[in-house]
Amino acid sequence: MCGIVGYIGNTNATPILINALKKLEYRGYDSAGIAVLDKEDIVVRKCKGMIKSLEAKIADEVISGTMGIGHTRWATHGEPSDVNSHPQTNVSGTIAVVHNGIIENYAEIKSWLQNQGVVFRSETDTEVIAHLLNYHYEKTQKDIFKAVLKTLNHLEGSYALGVLCKDFPDRIIVARKDSPLVVGLGNGENFMGSDVPALLEHTREVHFLNDHEVAVLYRDRIDLFTDKGEKLIRKPFHVDWDIAAAEKNGYEHFMMKEIHEQPKALLDTFKLWNEIDLKDSWKDVQRIVITACGTAYHAGVVGKYAFEQFTRIPVEVDVASEYRYRNPVCSKNDAFIVISQSGETADTLAAVRLAKSHGSRILAITNCVGSTLSREADEVIYTRAGPEIAVASTKAFTTQLMCMYMLALKTAEIRGTMSKTELEKNLTELATISEKAQEIVDNKETIQKFAARQFNKNKVFFMGRLYDYAVSLESALKLKEIAYTHSESFAAGELKHGPIALVDNSTLVVAIATQKKLYEKLASNIKEVATRGASTLAITTDHSGLFDNTVDETFVIPETFDAFSPMLSVIPAQLFAYYCSIQRGNNPDKPRNLAKSVTVE
Ligand code: M6R
Repeated sequence: MCGIVGYIGNTNATPILINALKKLEYRGYDSAGIAVLDKEDIVVRKCKGMIKSLEAKIADEVISGTMGIGHTRWATHGEPSDVNSHPQTNVSGTIAVVHNGIIENYAEIKSWLQNQGVVFRSETDTEVIAHLLNYHYEKTQKDIFKAVLKTLNHLEGSYALGVLCKDFPDRIIVARKDSPLVVGLGNGENFMGSDVPALLEHTREVHFLNDHEVAVLYRDRIDLFTDKGEKLIRKPFHVDWDIAAAEKNGYEHFMMKEIHEQPKALLDTFKLWNEIDLKDSWKDVQRIVITACGTAYHAGVVGKYAFEQFTRIPVEVDVASEYRYRNPVCSKNDAFIVISQSGETADTLAAVRLAKSHGSRILAITNCVGSTLSREADEVIYTRAGPEIAVASTKAFTTQLMCMYMLALKTAEIRGTMSKTELEKNLTELATISEKAQEIVDNKETIQKFAARQFNKNKVFFMGRLYDYAVSLESALKLKEIAYTHSESFAAGELKHGPIALVDNSTLVVAIATQKKLYEKLASNIKEVATRGASTLAITTDHSGLFDNTVDETFVIPETFDAFSPMLSVIPAQLFAYYCSIQRGNNPDKPRNLAKSVTVE
């Protein structure tokens, strides 16, 4: 969950590396560093803190090399500190390495190297790579390419690596296993990074590296190899993202921009309807298993309700980190739906590999073209959310929901569990979701004012029934992530079975109330918490004023079919989390302890 970058060309590498790192800061931001080959020497500058601390550190220096590597860190081994920052080097400082991932056998390699007399400076797993490279460099008569291959052979775990060697001023070597890595082709210059935004300013022609692949970046070309040294020939992939889509466009934070992009993202994703062409095998599916992590898991919970409602196929939904370890019952007749914004989440990928090994067919819903998930799945549906930069997921979630509904409806269509008229009605309603989402975003000041009054609450509970329960899960997660408020979610019917003991006058309870046949039941639940002193808010599709006498405040959202309401009711909850985060002085784009892409277990 770090970001790595690299540049080799004919202009000053330092500003290029710094700018590329800024594009990856969402991946980790507790320390940053660069290594630049300047004249004869590798100059390493690194420090604890965000990239702006690194910039301040080098502000008065002239580092004029034209090739280098960089890193923005989310600490795993060793606390954030100057010495634990990357790049890490061999003892003589002639080889520098940046790394994203975890070397699982680092302790073993470290003690072996220590027995050879190597003195370690940091607590990182990455430092073993630098020293191991040095060892093999000497053993291979100073052939850095061979040294990299030999080093990779010893590493267990995950890595995206960038290697710079003082004796090879014409190349940067990169390698990948279980951590994303992309190399970009320029004109007389080439680039590498953990993700496309790091490269986009310079090139749209890229190679996404696969696991066990190595690339050597020269100024005039990029050579691809397997990690056994066999040459690979592959056409580059053209990235057609709009560069502005990866910038803030005048918004103070990416998260706010991304909340505002939801109407468009929902419409763009809905337009995929005619392109979704499910394989015939979907006709015989006997069970659906959905697995994902975090927000994507919440999209899975909604998906379960929708699939069971529209298709009557039994659905199981599980968090990927549980699924992979619980010896699940898998079968060839299962359809396995995997949801992941990044397509790089380690637990999610492990669950996919497990299901695949049992013969399940994998359908992936992801936002990232070329991601590992998209390459390992049998079928892929891409959400049309555009790049999501803020750590807290918003537009990726609502577009995942749109995909789940379309998938459930398609399945109902091919299995004949829904009449044509019903299907048409549902599609007509889905087509209106975008403008309804716009109405909510346009009314954001109401939520802003509510947050200004409530942001100091130290306990916030979200409750709902059926689809609203799934939205409660997501709403509580958003508030935890960016406001650092203790928030929980409950199926409203569960209140009396325990959680109500927590309710007092320091509690805010937000009721999500969009399931028409359950309005009255929820109104009773609200009364129960209000009687015990809680402040209350209802986010509801009821326009009759039913909740007005039971809650302190009501936020009315446009009506839609009960099943589709999560795409709308979650938006006020996202806004509430955003405004609470701002009120508390946090940076909603870069919440503490979190990273956008969780590529380690
Ligand atoms: O990239 P993925 O969708 O696989 O990520 C899964 C979770 O890590 C992610 O949804 C996380 O919970 C977000 N920070 C939520 O806002």
